[in-house]
Amino acid sequence: MAFKNRRFEKRSRRWKRRSRERSYSNIFTRPSIARRAGTGVLYGLLALAALFLFLFIFFNVIGGGSKVKLVKDMTAEINSHRSAASFVEEVREGTILRDQAVDTSSLGKKTCRITIVSDKGKEKEYEFQITIVDTQPPTIETDGNVVVFKGSEVNLINQAKVRDNSNTEPEIEVIGKWDISSVGTYPIKLVARDASGNKAEKDLYLEVIDGNSKEGNYAFTMANGHRAEVIDGITYIDGILIVNKSFSLPRDYAPGFTNEAYYAFYEMVDAAYEDGISLWGISDYRSWDEQNELYEYYKADDPEGVDSYSARPGYSEHQSGLAIDINTIDKGFGETAEGQWLINHCWEYGFIYRYPAGKEEITGYIAEPWHYRYVGRDFAEKLYNNGDWISLEEYFGIDSKYAN
Ligand code: DAL
Ligand code: ZN
Repeated sequence: MAFKNRRFEKRSRRWKRRSRERSYSNIFTRPSIARRAGTGVLYGLLALAALFLFLFIFFNVIGGGSKVKLVKDMTAEINSHRSAASFVEEVREGTILRDQAVDTSSLGKKTCRITIVSDKGKEKEYEFQITIVDTQPPTIETDGNVVVFKGSEVNLINQAKVRDNSNTEPEIEVIGKWDISSVGTYPIKLVARDASGNKAEKDLYLEVIDGNSKEGNYAFTMANGHRAEVIDGITYIDGILIVNKSFSLPRDYAPGFTNEAYYAFYEMVDAAYEDGISLWGISDYRSWDEQNELYEYYKADDPEGVDSYSARPGYSEHQSGLAIDINTIDKGFGETAEGQWLINHCWEYGFIYRYPAGKEEITGYIAEPWHYRYVGRDFAEKLYNNGDWISLEEYFGIDSKYAN
């Protein structure tokens, strides 16, 4: 064992010495030129491989060298016409091959895509995000001057012409005071706000005019949307001649019983006859002077009550040549078979039950189931309203009141 141990120690010492020599030579001695050259080539090859790898990735994955520069403002107005390419300021080393319309129909973030083709012919889809915003205020298109007849309905909010680029209905507010019973010009302000809070304002004038003013011819859209025309002192609304306590006829307006009313009346008489109903006219056209005579006759006996059943001269529908009293002037006529037939069928021949029961405050007259006014079938049907008669005053939002 001792011999073995000695040999082992000897070998071990020699090993340690050699190994020391080797490590000293690694630190303190220079490698040979051949070895240095070999290492350099190796590193060079590695660097080249890395470069190729980088170029491969750069051209094939990143996009062939094209660079997209986007515009600063990455927002689009709601419902505007924008294409994805409109957000691209510049494409370096490439061009846009395919563009796309942007969906601007709702607010919020949207993804846009374009296809870029690099100068090297490489195609790549490019994606980016934009935001749809609502920054435009509504547009108020209502005319600067809103004209209304004295005593008529004013619904500026419903009638205001306001548009907005968003899909929402703008909220409208009317600021200002006016007196509809007083002729005058009232300054008002219309304010419109869209759902995003964008606000528009417009200063307007509300002009209250007298329906009996006989000066000039003019036309305007009323503050409830109906179209008014005043021609030679006669007022028409949506083409319907209007005569009541607020709208008079000129003294010289004398058309006689009009053809349209005449033919419609006799068509109605014939139809009623078929149904076993006898109708006949007792008073149709009355001139200004005839009406004056009649009114004065009633007034002499009943000065307090006359205005509730007889029109003053110039204010009677009979002067228009479009009205006719049928069968009898009797309060109970509406309950008779003839009266009932008229109330239910007159519209089929273009006539309206002009002063319906229960609307005395609106029409200005007690119920007159004998007085019918020709307006044409289509409009008559609207006022017939499936049996629940609407007065002309209600339909057009006008009043029927004498100025004094
Ligand atoms: N009775 C109607 C109202 C007129 O006199 O014209
Ligand atoms: Zn009458």
